[in-house]
Amino acid sequence: MRVLITGGAGFIGGNLARRLLADGHQVSVLDNLSTGFESNLDDIDVDFVVGSILDEELVTTMTAAADAVVHLAARSSVPRSLHNPMATHQANALGTLNVLQSAVKVGGRHVIVASSSSVYGANEELPKRESSATRPMSPYAASKLAAESYALAYQTSFGLPTLAFRLFNVFGPLQAAGHVYAAVIPAFVDSALRGETITVHGDGTQSRDFTNVATVCETISSALEREVTSPDPVNLAFGSRVELNTVLALMAERIDHPLVIENTDNRVGDVPHSQADPTLLRSLFPDVTPIDFEVGLDQTIEWMQSVIDTEQQPEIDLSNLDDVDVSSSASLDS
Ligand SMILES: NC(=O)c1ccc[n+]([C@@H]2O[C@H](COP(=O)([O-])OP(=O)(O)OC[C@H]3O[C@@H](n4cnc5c(N)ncnc54)[C@H](O)[C@@H]3O)[C@@H](O)[C@H]2O)c1
Repeated sequence: MRVLITGGAGFIGGNLARRLLADGHQVSVLDNLSTGFESNLDDIDVDFVVGSILDEELVTTMTAAADAVVHLAARSSVPRSLHNPMATHQANALGTLNVLQSAVKVGGRHVIVASSSSVYGANEELPKRESSATRPMSPYAASKLAAESYALAYQTSFGLPTLAFRLFNVFGPLQAAGHVYAAVIPAFVDSALRGETITVHGDGTQSRDFTNVATVCETISSALEREVTSPDPVNLAFGSRVELNTVLALMAERIDHPLVIENTDNRVGDVPHSQADPTLLRSLFPDVTPIDFEVGLDQTIEWMQSVIDTEQQPEIDLSNLDDVDVSSSASLDS
């Protein structure tokens, strides 16, 4: 089938494009390159269009030419959403509505939407079940809740076959480090490999349900091939919980010089622990086995080392983003 990936030049999108091509599908990508890189699609055969999901005509044309849509495009950062809530709403809520409306307009397409564990926000219950209360703590989380709600409402309102995944902390190759919005694992690994100080907010006992990007891509590919839908959002994480201090200890075993770690104050709004209840995921995807965390860490370190060796990773152009005043240390947001 031909799959349209919105946000396909981003971290998950670049990995997903490779996975879908390997599975024998054709891939089109729509991305405005705000945080994605054209180089993430280097050496693979995709139809790449630079443009926005807010461009109704463009999205409709690209959706019409596809058999299914994986909607990943988003302003994916909590601090950016605090700085400019309206822009986050437009990209994440309105942009999703536009993708769904286009799918209806062209006669119906399977649409998979990336939501986020951040929708659970201030709800401290562990593990997080899909039926757990959602308590968004940021405009980003609220926009993701809107996006998944629209995706599910389009099933009942228009009979659109949709699936909304709540992604937790995804990590692996192609995840950019070295910018103010970097996620925690690439930020830690990048600093460690360069011999720079690793900044840890708090005492490092915070924990996350880290999910390997290859496992995420395998799940999405399976969902596409079987046109899986669900009336409820689906957690896309497997219920493992790894402490940041464990991540650092595992990194120390793998990197041949001592890590320099600095603990600073807890960051306001950071949720201490996050862990998915994977029951629904496992019932829908019994054949998907998550890749072991340590294997994923090895892959990430190897990829990051190759980037550092060649310094091939392009800098994110911050003039494209917002003039933010945020800490330059790693983000635990997902
Ligand atoms: N990485 C994670 O841990 C994680 C966790 C939860 C949810 N998610 C969600 O998964 C999706 C992919 O995340 P990612 O980590 O690959 O992030 P990413 O920033 O690497 O990818 C998002 C892509 O969307 C593009 N984009 C942004 N606005 C756009 C617009 N208006 N039109 C077209 N393209 C646009 C960006 O250029 C980028 O390539 C996002 O929806 C994100 O919210 C990710």
